[in-house]
Amino acid sequence: MTTVCIEKSPGIFDKEYMQEKRIKHLVNWQDWTDSEILDLLEYSMYVKNNRVYFSGHMQNRTLVMLFQKTSTRTRVSFEAGMTEMGGHAVYLDWRTSNFQLTDIEFEAQYLSRNVSIIMARMKEHGDLQEIVAGSQVPVINGCCNLFHPCQSLADMLTIYQDRGSISGVNLCYIGVHNNVVNSLIEITSALGIHLVLVTPIGNDNPIIDPIIEKARKKGTITWETDPRKAVENCDYVYTDTWVDMEFFNDPAYQEEKQKRIDLMMPYQVNHKLLDGLNIKVMHDMPIHSEFEISKDMVKDPRSIIFQQAENRLDAQKAIILKLLH
Ligand code: CP
Repeated sequence: MTTVCIEKSPGIFDKEYMQEKRIKHLVNWQDWTDSEILDLLEYSMYVKNNRVYFSGHMQNRTLVMLFQKTSTRTRVSFEAGMTEMGGHAVYLDWRTSNFQLTDIEFEAQYLSRNVSIIMARMKEHGDLQEIVAGSQVPVINGCCNLFHPCQSLADMLTIYQDRGSISGVNLCYIGVHNNVVNSLIEITSALGIHLVLVTPIGNDNPIIDPIIEKARKKGTITWETDPRKAVENCDYVYTDTWVDMEFFNDPAYQEEKQKRIDLMMPYQVNHKLLDGLNIKVMHDMPIHSEFEISKDMVKDPRSIIFQQAENRLDAQKAIILKLLH
């Protein structure tokens, strides 16, 4: 007689094991220690330099990607990342799923019984927290109104790749204080990178105040009003859209959009601003050329924008690998 032995080994599909292990998520960087963030950055570089090695690491594992908002990079890089690691990604559109008909928490709990990991791009941070509350597997924030942690890790990976180190880096952000900035403040403060903000439209959300205060105490953040003065002392200049993606083509937002354009035009990243400077140019994309950045500056030899976008793939593979192991 043949005995078939089914050994119970703990794994990512084992709910009790995951609960005991305390599931780690990436909602923003506040739940990660500075050394965990540095370790993840170094691991991202390792994953980037050893793409073939990780080709089977997600075999038989599924990522669900829930989108309430549009995306190019986040969708493509997460899906390509799972494919390259031998796994699978399911795209779930908010409008054509049943999320909008019921409690987010219950739908999230269901998802986590069928997949290994969830990435969600939600309009409201509170809705993302409901997904976390329901999920029994790790949840990754794919950009909400308050944070964009995956972008910020790819940004730091780009600087690390460009310089071979993050030591002594001065990064200047010129634009509107938005979700990308919040994650930049968190990650630069964790890594000891100096961030100069030129943000005529500043933070208006009290939830972010403690994050700013932490960076201020660590001495990693300062503000400057003159963009030329700011870039003269920096290694990298970073900009982003002046209008949040969900409002860009919204007819009800056009008056506010025009107000922002009028206020922000003197802060455009262009050749005049960067004349004579050996500074690298960053943008998280999508680009609204001739608004926050001139088209020729996107194509300038100092631009590392497309490298930065490419690095979403490697940074997110590292996040998935860390959260599932
Ligand atoms: N930077 C970024 O998140 O790009 P998408 O909005 O295209 O995903």
